[in-house]
Amino acid sequence: MKVQIITLFPEMFEKVLNTSMLWKAQECSAVSFELIDLRTFGIGVRRTVDDTPYGGGDGMLLKVEPLVAAIEHAKKISPNSKVFLPTPRGTVFKQSKAKSLAKQNEDMIIICPRYEGYDERITDWVDEQFCIGNYVLTGGEIPAMVLIDSVVRLLPGVLGGDLSAEIESFQQDDVSVEFPQYTRPEEFRGKKVPKILLSGHHAQIDKWRKGDE
Ligand SMILES: C[S@@+](CC[C@H](N)C(=O)[O-])C[C@H]1O[C@@H](n2cnc3c(N)ncnc32)[C@H](O)[C@@H]1O
Repeated sequence: MKVQIITLFPEMFEKVLNTSMLWKAQECSAVSFELIDLRTFGIGVRRTVDDTPYGGGDGMLLKVEPLVAAIEHAKKISPNSKVFLPTPRGTVFKQSKAKSLAKQNEDMIIICPRYEGYDERITDWVDEQFCIGNYVLTGGEIPAMVLIDSVVRLLPGVLGGDLSAEIESFQQDDVSVEFPQYTRPEEFRGKKVPKILLSGHHAQIDKWRKGDE
């Protein structure tokens, strides 16, 4: 999977993409990333990427021309990529969506808006609009990282055990959560690990984990 990220702040991604599972995913060639600096596609000597909204209102919007130029640049390298736009207007992003994107394993272009948002006409170049929750963030970079991390860790060969992704939270209807887990020591400041987990009775442990006991 190739992931191209269009952003005014490429430096925000350096550590995130090169740490832990996302680093490992690149090492095992499950994914490759390309950071595309939107400023490169800005207009004029000042490389302008934003302007005031028609009809008035606070703040600035990302202009459509630099955004389209950046998408077209990305598509030259990966013509069949799907274009994703993080936006509070989008469909709420869930684990089931992360799983289906990992299964499809298609290349992605992710746009990271800033300021008050973007010229709505950009949506004609977008395949999917997603929202990561009912709160407003400063820009699309963190939603893009959420999308990338949740999908890439599910690509074949990235997580350690075969079952790691199967026994996680949100597997059924995006609502179920994983059972509580404990590690050594058996007792900490009077707080004990549940006895059943120390019993060695795997069938009973499974039952307990499913909440049947
Ligand atoms: C400051 S926000 C703009 C918010 C916009 N004026 C509004 O009220 O809906 C800038 C950008 O951050 C991204 N963003 C903020 N919150 C988000 C969320 N919950 N889900 C996805 N993207 C979000 C979007 O790309 C948005 O255009």
